[in-house]
Amino acid sequence: MSIEDQSPKARARALLAQMSLDEKCGQVRQYFCFGTAAEAVGPLAAEARKMEIALATGTVGSLLFVSKASQTNALQRQHLEASRLKIPLLFGFDVIHGFRTIFPTPIAIAASFDPALVEASQAVAAREARAVGIHWTFAPMVDICRDARWGRIVEGPGEDPFLGAVMAAAQVRGFQGTTLDDQHVLAGPKHFAGYGASLGGRDYDEVNLSDYELHNVYLPPFKAAIDAGARNLMTAYMPLNGVPATGNRHLLTTILREHWGFDGFVVSDANAAINLVAHGFSASPVEAAVSALEAGLDLEMTTGTSAYEHLAQAVVDGLIDEALLDQAVLRILEAKLELGLFEAPFVDEEAAEAVLATPAHRDLARTAAERSAVLLRNEDALLPLTPAIRRVAVLGPLADAPRDCLGPWVFEQDLSETVTIRAGIAAAAPAGVTVDYAPGVAMPMRQHPWPFGRMHERDDRSDWADFDEAAGLARAVELARQADVAVLVLGERYDMSGEIASCSTLDLAGRQMELLDAVAATGTPVVLLLMSGRPLDLRRAGTLADAILQLWHGGTRAGEAAGRLLWGAVSPGGKLPFSWPRHVGQVPLIYGHTRSHSPEGQTRRYWDETSTPLYPFGFGLSYGAFAVTDLTVIPTAGAGAEVSVTVTNTGIHAGDEVVQLYVGQASGSSARPVRELKGFQRIHLAPGARQRVTFQLDATALSHWNDARKDWVVDRVARTVWVGSDSQAGLSARIPG
Ligand code: NOJ
Repeated sequence: MSIEDQSPKARARALLAQMSLDEKCGQVRQYFCFGTAAEAVGPLAAEARKMEIALATGTVGSLLFVSKASQTNALQRQHLEASRLKIPLLFGFDVIHGFRTIFPTPIAIAASFDPALVEASQAVAAREARAVGIHWTFAPMVDICRDARWGRIVEGPGEDPFLGAVMAAAQVRGFQGTTLDDQHVLAGPKHFAGYGASLGGRDYDEVNLSDYELHNVYLPPFKAAIDAGARNLMTAYMPLNGVPATGNRHLLTTILREHWGFDGFVVSDANAAINLVAHGFSASPVEAAVSALEAGLDLEMTTGTSAYEHLAQAVVDGLIDEALLDQAVLRILEAKLELGLFEAPFVDEEAAEAVLATPAHRDLARTAAERSAVLLRNEDALLPLTPAIRRVAVLGPLADAPRDCLGPWVFEQDLSETVTIRAGIAAAAPAGVTVDYAPGVAMPMRQHPWPFGRMHERDDRSDWADFDEAAGLARAVELARQADVAVLVLGERYDMSGEIASCSTLDLAGRQMELLDAVAATGTPVVLLLMSGRPLDLRRAGTLADAILQLWHGGTRAGEAAGRLLWGAVSPGGKLPFSWPRHVGQVPLIYGHTRSHSPEGQTRRYWDETSTPLYPFGFGLSYGAFAVTDLTVIPTAGAGAEVSVTVTNTGIHAGDEVVQLYVGQASGSSARPVRELKGFQRIHLAPGARQRVTFQLDATALSHWNDARKDWVVDRVARTVWVGSDSQAGLSARIPG
């Protein structure tokens, strides 16, 4: 049998047997690449020098942040020439919602409630990334978030573990495909675990979660990603219940490997291993290295100082068993072998350009943006715009801002390919309709604490330094006055959500409310298009705008989607992946709360504000109108049930409905949430059409992790099912116990 015919595990073992201690320690190191030492500036130059020495000595396993085919090829060549055993580099990158073609942000695409679309989008992202030599994405981000102050809510699936699990699995399937061929990349669900529950919604702050919440809410999306075959996993930064996640053996070994059977490799978040010292957990970098490796961390991602650079010494000094290092190296080698890197370490640079320019990728991005949009309000059926509309004023600081259409975690975008909202509305307008534009007010900039210019490059067209505030507002009001409808595009800049983008308020930033007030005062009907990574405070805006459409950061084709949605070429059909708070003081806010004390007082738990959301989880309107009727429940073996309903489009427009199934139990071994999402299907219906929709509920769906028993249980009790259009669905039936 030739060596290529052996299994990755056997080949990895054979390689390991030939490796020196230094070579092994190189494999478990991942360096940021911010260019060559000659190109890099400031503190990054020292980084680049370190990387170059590691490349020259063949003692590095992986690089991140290289994103050009010519660069991955050059670095790979340089490395292979120096590497005694010719072990290729693994290139990782944050391919979060697209590579060159940018899709809606993860929170947005979760709102599509369309896992097939999510899978297809990430398959495109994988194809584009792999074409330039990227082998592995630091995605999907599957952190449940129930506090919209946290900036990274934009990167995940929202508040619900069931939706989060479905989206996590779909993304893994999209990235990895059925085989890790040259169209696919390794998927790395992150950040393990609980990162979305940081205190006060402050990024990186500590997380204290009961086992009950951890197992029932925060872990299910990770488990789903692992079950879908994810080959990597990234640790979180913060301490979970006092133990930093990157040194947390309970998480990285007991749960991940022993309970779930994960056999891929674990990477730290950037600098999270050396930061075990900063946490006040490890006394020294050596101790940090030992704790992390013993906890189950295979690969260390770093800029600057490293913990794992001390591993060789720790082995020599007998502080750690070399067998643990071997195990980590084996896992990394296996990934490289599974990817076929030894056989094909380079990419075809010309072919890469063609892949990045594929028109079908852009078309899918448009579909994804259309299907992610959520219609929150539509008074007097203002939308879709009718032929009576002859003049449209497109207003607002985000209306013509291409970079803001894309959202955070975007690096390889081509802004000339990005269709802004203004451009998309103009392109979709029927012949003879006039589309005017004015930004009205400036978009405030925010400060960035990071030295990495590339992460937050400024886009000239979003630079408001020279904007004439007084004239700008007057012009917008004048255009609104002349128009049949004013379309305001408001919300957040692309960098107002994301990492280190927590915010203490949910208010529209800067003078945007002032613009909305002034435009609404003209009496012209107002459509509010929201571009944001989080729910914003719409208490007042909701009374001024006749229609509100949440577009999120919709990606490369966000504008085209907006135009088609506005003019009715397609109907919005997305649903909220979180409970939309009225006010920041309500967060964390969830639909799946328990009854707790005084269930009848549930909506009045503050004296100055109701405790209900402005819009419930799962909510979203359509141009169609849907009736959900004829609920039938047929009990099946093992406490399960088959649940079905009839959905009818009673409206005059075609549209999509996301039919949602919720389940609740009123008694049992724990006080469970009033209801929990356990199934959904997005269907398309022409006016007058109807469809029977069926869900299968099995015992796994009905189980929960019980804190007293420290185990999963299925209570043998009666349950209620609700089926309908959102988490407040009223149509219900009982499953007998
Ligand atoms: C830090 C972030 O927390 C993580 O999500 C990301 O993948 C890495 N940096 C690499 O950019």
